[in-house]
Amino acid sequence: MNAILESHGITKDFSGIRALNGVDINVGEGERVGLIGPNGAGKTTFFNCLLGILTPDAGTVQFRGNDISNLRVHKRARAGIGRTFQRIELFSDTSVREHLLIAERVHNGSGAFWKDLLGMGRPTAVEIERCDDVLELLGLRELGDEPIEALSLGQGRLVEVGRALMTEPRLLLLDEPSSGLDREETAALAATLREVQAEKGFAILLVEHDVELVSKFTERLYVLDFGSLIAQGPTAETLSDPAVRRAYLGTLEVDSEVGSD
Ligand SMILES: Nc1ncnc2c1ncn2[C@@H]1O[C@H](COP(=O)(O)OP(=O)(O)OP(=O)(O)O)[C@@H](O)[C@H]1O
Ligand SMILES: [Mg+2]
Repeated sequence: MNAILESHGITKDFSGIRALNGVDINVGEGERVGLIGPNGAGKTTFFNCLLGILTPDAGTVQFRGNDISNLRVHKRARAGIGRTFQRIELFSDTSVREHLLIAERVHNGSGAFWKDLLGMGRPTAVEIERCDDVLELLGLRELGDEPIEALSLGQGRLVEVGRALMTEPRLLLLDEPSSGLDREETAALAATLREVQAEKGFAILLVEHDVELVSKFTERLYVLDFGSLIAQGPTAETLSDPAVRRAYLGTLEVDSEVGSD
């Protein structure tokens, strides 16, 4: 397998508490990989180390064969790492299309968000076309002019994905995309993500608590507990691993339902 992303020995301490302890993972080109673990296991911290938002105390990150450990956040984004946030980060009175346009301008600009935003002239025809292509792909074309506050939470999550897609990622990091969504909205989000991923061919690293989504969506899993990987392998096999079930203290009971519908 050709790895697009490899982490080696990622370690991060917060005031003497070890949040990540030598985490090694790899993601193949176009692969869908899950990262799961109980609350506080270190999943978001790990994402932030991959993205350059946090500097690990030890370890390296390779992306497309290059060591990106010393690159700043926007350079990693430009190299092809896209992300969505665990908590939704949208501006309620700004339209769907504007969110995507801003994402693209920030991506292509200096990385200075407000400077780029304030210097934003009228969008060009090419920018609008690119933006509408992404909206079409996500089934949001009709909602382009709507303010974010008019959208459901599920649609808001898709706008977040749309913002990430404007940067044409080769790897998309998704931090709990189903959080706050009901079962139906989660299924719709998963179906759209699957379609878009199949069309664009980027790799996905998915952090998720919804075991049903994880088991349907990912090919392979890593399990973090107290900052260390305790299991990894093909998704179904890994979810039935006794150490994984113990780490979740019964919260994996739902997986008896998985695949039954
Ligand atoms: N900026 C920070 N300063 C101090 N401690 C932090 C910081 N960020 C995270 N932590 C601690 O590091 C550990 C890992 O947190 P993290 O947010 O990465 O977990 P998580 O797996 O994403 O959890 P959740 O499933 O709840 O999102 C936790 O003990 C958390 O309290
Ligand atoms: Mg988290």
